[in-house]
Amino acid sequence: MTSEMIRRDDVEFHEKRSRMGRQMGIQVVGLGSSVPDLLVTNDEFASLGSDAEWIVQRTGIRERRHAPPGVTTSDLAVKAALRCIEDANVDPQDIDLLLLGTMTPDMPLPATACSVQERLGIRAPAMDLHAACAGFVYSLITATQFIASGTSQLALIIGAECNSRLTDPNDRSTYPLFGDGAGAVLISPGSQRQGLLSFAIGADGSGADLLCCQMGGAQLPFSTDPKLAGLQYLQMEGRAIFKWAIRMLGETIGDVLSAADAKLDEVDLVVFHQANSRIIDSTVNMLGIDESKVFKNLDRYGNTSAASIPLALDEAHRAGRIKSGDLVLLSGFGAGLAWGTILMRW
Ligand code: ACO
Repeated sequence: MTSEMIRRDDVEFHEKRSRMGRQMGIQVVGLGSSVPDLLVTNDEFASLGSDAEWIVQRTGIRERRHAPPGVTTSDLAVKAALRCIEDANVDPQDIDLLLLGTMTPDMPLPATACSVQERLGIRAPAMDLHAACAGFVYSLITATQFIASGTSQLALIIGAECNSRLTDPNDRSTYPLFGDGAGAVLISPGSQRQGLLSFAIGADGSGADLLCCQMGGAQLPFSTDPKLAGLQYLQMEGRAIFKWAIRMLGETIGDVLSAADAKLDEVDLVVFHQANSRIIDSTVNMLGIDESKVFKNLDRYGNTSAASIPLALDEAHRAGRIKSGDLVLLSGFGAGLAWGTILMRW
């Protein structure tokens, strides 16, 4: 953390900054994911003064994947998308919308989604959506609006990140927490009983300073000035985000359940953003969620921000944990602050 950051241990959760919605008639027709082969264990950060057991105890993370030099966010996105396209057994040329949730684009310009579109042979509008760790949930909710309006019949939504490039390799308090990866889903019009029974989507810029990367934008263009060293990396006030996330999860989950007139015990699968096992466990205990319904894979991948939910969804699906008609609860949260919680009938 730099001296420019003001240490705050608490941030309000502004429920009124959430918008609630519902979007039925949507089905998931394919899933896919991809992580780099390079596996990095907690022991490998010892030279930073990092304690491997501290990471396990405080976060639940045991290992993560790092993209080797030359591999970028678009490479991971393309691999995840190809698996998703194969799973759905569709022609890429039938895809008519591509949304990529990412906070680690290949470059500031153009959108990484355009590079992914070209490499997949897709002929459709393509854009990046930056909502940090809420990026996949934001993208999914956005894509359902295109389907509902009739503008899209087959939308590809990807969450992909190379977080190892945005985190400071010398900072023991952030570098070990994050990992690289990608996940993708394809959605199309479905029956009226399928889709987003309810969702809450929101942002609160009053917490923007709690999780940010100060250099590389219009405010502070990239510079090699030694006085600014380190500002190109992500900085996070973890404790404040931790408390905020638990409050946000509790309130938005209550909101989406009541909007859908559903009960927690009717939910078949819960997939939260995989940032910290203690955030997930605290929420599960606080709300009385049945632990067996909660899918976690952060022990193996760390926090892959926008990729974490589609990566977990793909693994859960391949493990046979989602079937047609299931009620699935998703929630993503992070820098912005931005959040999104969805109750979905698969
Ligand atoms: N090894 C040993 N000690 C460590 C390590 C490490 N790897 N990392 C930090 N510590 C030390 C700290 O330096 C600190 O020492 P100090 O007390 O001497 O200053 C001590 O451990 C406690 O640090 P805290 O930051 O208070 O630890 P905390 O228990 O809060 O855990 C964490 C930190 C894991 C970041 C947690 O707060 C968290 O998960 N927060 C939420 C993160 C999140 O959800 N982010 C949103 C999504 S990310 C996105 O949008 C990009």
